[in-house]
Order: sequence, then structure tokens, then C-alpha cells
Amino acid sequence: MQIAVKRTDKPKSRPDDSDLTFGTLFTDHMFNMDYSPDKGWHNPRIEPYAQIPMDPATMVLHYGQAVFEGLKSYRTASGDIQLFRPKDNFKRLNRSCRKLCIPELDEEFVFSSLKELLKIDESWVPSAPETSLYIRPTIIAMDPFLGVRASNTYRFFIILSPVGVYYKEGFNPVKIWVTKDHVRAVRGGLGEVKTAANYAASLFAGEQAHKNGYTQVLWLDGIEQRYIEEVGSMNIFFVIADELITPMLNGSILPGITRDSVIALAKKWNIKASERKISIDEVLKAHVSGSLQEIFGSGTAAVISPVGELKCGDSVLSIGNGKVGPLAHRFFKTLTDIQYGKAKDSMGWIEPV
Ligand SMILES: Cc1ncc(COP(=O)(O)O)c(C=O)c1O
Repeated sequence: MQIAVKRTDKPKSRPDDSDLTFGTLFTDHMFNMDYSPDKGWHNPRIEPYAQIPMDPATMVLHYGQAVFEGLKSYRTASGDIQLFRPKDNFKRLNRSCRKLCIPELDEEFVFSSLKELLKIDESWVPSAPETSLYIRPTIIAMDPFLGVRASNTYRFFIILSPVGVYYKEGFNPVKIWVTKDHVRAVRGGLGEVKTAANYAASLFAGEQAHKNGYTQVLWLDGIEQRYIEEVGSMNIFFVIADELITPMLNGSILPGITRDSVIALAKKWNIKASERKISIDEVLKAHVSGSLQEIFGSGTAAVISPVGELKCGDSVLSIGNGKVGPLAHRFFKTLTDIQYGKAKDSMGWIEPV
């Protein structure tokens, strides 16, 4: 398919890299493509960033049939632009499509479309340390129809947002609130894919955490509220004695690309890395015995997010004296050095634009 390109005649002004926040500002162009049963995915185009006109009955607004991805492009010291494991994001987008009854995309085609878009908005990729261009591919159900069924028509779009650090804390430990009253997802549900409903399900507990002075929620399993699943919108790791532990993928955890990268690096470094069930009781006990060394989250937005405090019921655990642990630091530095081209990518994770 040929991508039609229409460039903006009203380029926006860009703030300094030092003023960038997260997710508030969008570039000059976006990629769009439509789906209909007779034409399949068609009319791929790069055009000026614009609103999407919608009938109030548009199905995504009512039934949440939407999937999306989040990845970043990075500027290297030599000025080049590169992506970190982008094909894994498109693979995961198609997994999400299957779960939400949305027609799948041609992964190679959307990857090359993303590269075209990035070339056009190249000047928007910031270069200050820890800044990047966040990429949000999204698919939404477009039928104007009330009634629960899968839509027949869809819009796929990619928007780009220059971003600074995700947490105001930067690469510093955050405070986490364990909830037994709310669950994010259950096995057999939507938790293992990237769809809007999971984030809606997380809002109430997130607000409770914020009101109590905590940055994120630690999610437990939806059945027994006992086994740890994720932290905020990140995967989670524990260092207990000499073992690096992350909850095994069980059908309600999103298989994070950063999570997979952490496990791969740990194996390369001969660290004992386990994907297994881990209960909140095991973590509390490890803290009492002194073997709980580190907790950190992993995700595209913050890469590695160390946890300095965990509140669970009446217990408040201080982790690693509130300081960044050595493994969290090592993973953060190694991953960001690869992402920004400061270190050689021996894992085959980088794609040049
Ligand atoms: C719910 C959830 N879990 C985990 C992650 C981490 O995934 P990744 O490392 O691919 O960004 C994300 C972010 O995409 C997420 O939204």
C-alpha cells in the first residue's frame, strides 16, 4: 500500500527540551488508516495532527473497543533516531486486537509507516538527557451503533508526543500502596492485553493511593488478593536474597517488553531470575527476615522505577533505606544506554529509523 502524505502548513512551535512533561504535547503530523469489511485496512496516510470527528454513537465511546501501544524513539549523541524493540509492540498490538475482536494489522507495514511518520516529524525528537518521543499507536471502533457487538469499522492512528521524565520523582524511589479492595484484572479477562478498559479499572484505586500520599498501586490477583501482579501500569520485580523474581504471566498480567528485557539481561548476567507466583505475604516475610533487598517496576515510560516504600494494611515497609538499589540501577543504566545508543546493543533490540 502506498502512504499518502500531506504536510502541515502550520507547524507548531516546540518548547525547549528542558520544559517537556509527559503526554501533553503532540507533534505536527499523525498516521491514519481505516478498516472496513469490504476494503480491509486501507487509505494509509500521514497528515497534519487533527481531531477525529465522531458520531456520538461511535462504538468506542460506549463499549471501549480500543487497543493501543506505547513505545519511544530516542535521539543518540550522533543525532540519529532509534527505536527499542518496536516490532514487539506491533506484535503485542495484534495480540490485543485478537482479544478485542479487532482485525489485525500487517506488522511490517505499520512498522514502516511509523518510520515514515518519524522521518517527517524528525525535528520533534528531543535530545536532552532522559527525553524521548513517545509513540502511541491506537485502534478504535468506529461504527455509529448502539448495541453490544464488535464494530465493523475501525480507525488506526499513530500520534507522537515529545516527553520528559514520567515520574516527577525522576529515577528515584516511589511510594507504593497495596490494595486488597480493588483489582485491575482477572484471569480470562483483559489484563494481559493493552486495552482502554484496564486503565479505567485502575483509576479508582489510583486516586485512593494518591489521596494517601502514594504514587502507585500494587495490584494483587483478582481471585485471592494474595499474589502480586503489577505495579501501577508497570510490571514488578523483587530481589529477595540472591533471586530476582517477577510474577509469572498468568493471563491477567501485561507481558511488558521492558519486563522481558530485564529477564533477558538478568540471564545474560547469570543472575537467578524467576518468573513465578509471589505472594504479598512472602514479600512481607522477606522484609522481616531482612532478605528483601529491592523492589522495582519496569515499563516503557519510566524504564525502571525503584520502590522505596510499600504500604500494606498497617505495615509500612521501607525498602533499601529508600535508596535506589544496585540491580535497579544496573538495569536502568544498561537499558537506557542501549536505548540512547551510548552502549553497544548486543541483544538485537535497536531499530534505526
Ligand atoms: C498495565 C501495564 N503493565 C506493564 C506495562 C509495561 O509494558 P512495557 O514494558 O512493554 O512498556 C505497561 C506499559 O505499557 C502497562 O500499561
